Amino acid sequence: MRVHVADHPLVAHKLTVLRQTSTPSPVFRQLTEELVTLLAYEATREIAVERVEIDTPVARTLGTHLTHPRPMVVPILRAGLGMLEGMTRLLPTAEVGFLGLQRNEETLEAITYANRLPDDLAGRQCYVLDPMLATGGTLVAAIQYLIERGARHVTCITLLCAPEGLATVEAAVGHHADVTIVTAAVDERLNDKGYIVPGLGDAGDRLYGVV
Ligand code: URA
Repeated sequence: MRVHVADHPLVAHKLTVLRQTSTPSPVFRQLTEELVTLLAYEATREIAVERVEIDTPVARTLGTHLTHPRPMVVPILRAGLGMLEGMTRLLPTAEVGFLGLQRNEETLEAITYANRLPDDLAGRQCYVLDPMLATGGTLVAAIQYLIERGARHVTCITLLCAPEGLATVEAAVGHHADVTIVTAAVDERLNDKGYIVPGLGDAGDRLYGVV
């Protein structure tokens, strides 16, 4: 497993505004999209491509195209939905499959409550969107689900990670060379309620309100 922390002043600036309690929901949503587009640029560095011959108005030349099968973007409901627009802006030809995973607030284990993904993901590069890698339970469940269905590589894009969550993902699926985590920052720790510290609070609530 590889972990890539995007080290860029624009990422740091947007993340700082996201963290602030005073940032209202519309600004939070907008900044999440912008941040994801920056992270997506890093996350797609090894996206599968092929060489193609093309004609410019001046000459025949070799260029690069994304190859088939199309990449699969997998937002984890609910908070991952807030990252979808920022991802598909950069990757408009991707397919989008949905996975509804919720953590049981007592056991902190992941429960699947919705699944709209093909059974066969053979050869597909998958991009999982989940803003907070906290305990890691949700992400481990998502990665295992995709690998079991044949995904060729799973890249998880998160806004924030807790060291505890990274360790859990590493222990569960770290032996797969074809798993990458791309994040804006690794924070200090988890608190006893499973929140990332200093974090940004409940990402789903800040995007969509407490419902
Ligand atoms: N999920 C969130 O939305 N925030 C956290 O800090 C941890 C999990």
